[in-house]
Amino acid sequence: MARLKVAVLISGRGSNMGALIDACAVPDFPAEIVLVVSNRADAAGLETAKAAGVPTALIGHRDDPDRASFEAALNAALDAAGVELVCLAGFMRLLTADFVRRWHDRLINIHPSLLPAFKGLHTHEQVLSAGVRITGCTVHFVRAEMDDGPIIVQAAVPVLPDDDAERLAARVLRVEHQCYPLALRLIAEGRVRVENERVILDASGDGLASLVNPAAGIRAAK
Ligand code: GRF
Repeated sequence: MARLKVAVLISGRGSNMGALIDACAVPDFPAEIVLVVSNRADAAGLETAKAAGVPTALIGHRDDPDRASFEAALNAALDAAGVELVCLAGFMRLLTADFVRRWHDRLINIHPSLLPAFKGLHTHEQVLSAGVRITGCTVHFVRAEMDDGPIIVQAAVPVLPDDDAERLAARVLRVEHQCYPLALRLIAEGRVRVENERVILDASGDGLASLVNPAAGIRAAK
């Protein structure tokens, strides 16, 4: 069966991109990363992608000062690579409603909280100042509003009493690295469909329980 052709858009470290590349390297994984795009030349993830032999493109917004020309260049690169699904992974540039519409239900993002709680930047600081006991991460289809859209996969992670934003971010990140490849696999296997702005998931036989158990986050933290 043909593998789903995927692009990953990054702006920085690219650890989620790395998790997606690793997942796709496993024989029989139903997707392949055909392109990694960064909008920043100094994104560390570009080197990770190159080392893994994945084609990269730098589409910098200094060269394309207005959004329309930036997104035209981005769309041209995605189309040239035959991309069928776009994964945002720490991509720090806002995309226009036009771009989001063009990739409707073919554009996904990972956010380090249990959406719809704690949208936006400084997520872990928001979580700590709210005093919630459980946080997590969310993979969702992208809509024009930031951190909005049908939810594909979520996992819960405990907030521990001595957490600071850095410790909490690290614990959540380990779970992100499980959730993003899982969401990609579910989509690539055709087990995700959107109906009335909710995801209907065919998750039969998938061991999802371990991912939504907060204890998984405690174990991962050790
Ligand atoms: C992750 O926490 C992701 O949820 C958020 O930005 C961070 C990116 O980290 N959107 P990385 O570049 O994947 O390491």
